[in-house]
Amino acid sequence: MIPEPTPTVRELLAFYLEAGVDCALAEEPVDRLAELDAPAPRAAPVEAPRPVAAPAVLRGEAAPAPDVAIASAREAARTAPTLEALRELMQNFEGCALKHTATRLVFADGNPQARIMFVGEAPGRDEDIEGLPFVGRSGKLLDLMIGAIGLNRTTAYITNVIPWRPPGNRTPTPQETQICLPFIQRHIELVNPDVLVTLGNPSTQTLLSTREGIMRTRGRWFEYETGQRTIRALPTFHPAYLLRSPSYKRLAWQDLRSIAKVLAG
Ligand code: URA
Repeated sequence: MIPEPTPTVRELLAFYLEAGVDCALAEEPVDRLAELDAPAPRAAPVEAPRPVAAPAVLRGEAAPAPDVAIASAREAARTAPTLEALRELMQNFEGCALKHTATRLVFADGNPQARIMFVGEAPGRDEDIEGLPFVGRSGKLLDLMIGAIGLNRTTAYITNVIPWRPPGNRTPTPQETQICLPFIQRHIELVNPDVLVTLGNPSTQTLLSTREGIMRTRGRWFEYETGQRTIRALPTFHPAYLLRSPSYKRLAWQDLRSIAKVLAG
């Protein structure tokens, strides 16, 4: 048999990119195959469950089980009195594995006093680098969309359901979404906008507790309950989807006009 030629570095990198590997997680490579040969670690003694409290998954602790992380996020988010406190708390939260592969927390951009808040799914590569939501290609389109109704980042507030970039832009798992949910819920409560716009299916389904798809939900006004107040909420297409399917921009324009009408009314 003729041996395969050793791939060049360029070929290897092309292979990794096609496989979705587009960022390095550490300075040194880890040989996972060697780990298979290593003796299995001895089972740790079973510990009694710890009571759940916010500091249980703060800095310096191992990643907790998802239900503990969700309870801890809930408890922590509930106590954040201001947006700054919420940002700091999320910065120190260790309960979501995405934090460890992302470069940094992507908290929000825009004016926290704005009457309108846009919520996307999760940061991508550009957002992970800059630490701001919607700064890549879809962000440029979002700026054009909101500009068409006279808004910009000084009159609107922009964030995501998930504040850390999923590696390779993969879809966040349901567990990751549930862990991050209390933070975005508290975020909305603190900004307290008059209008909440959910961008795309994941944000809409997560925040408006619906299983209907974006084709059915877009352009329909929902009520978002913060516990203190009811906020009018409108799902529309995610700008990344509009970049792939520009024919839906016509419907997105209808949604934007509907938003402008409510803000004016
Ligand atoms: N897509 C999102 O959902 N959010 C961003 O911040 C960027 C791209």
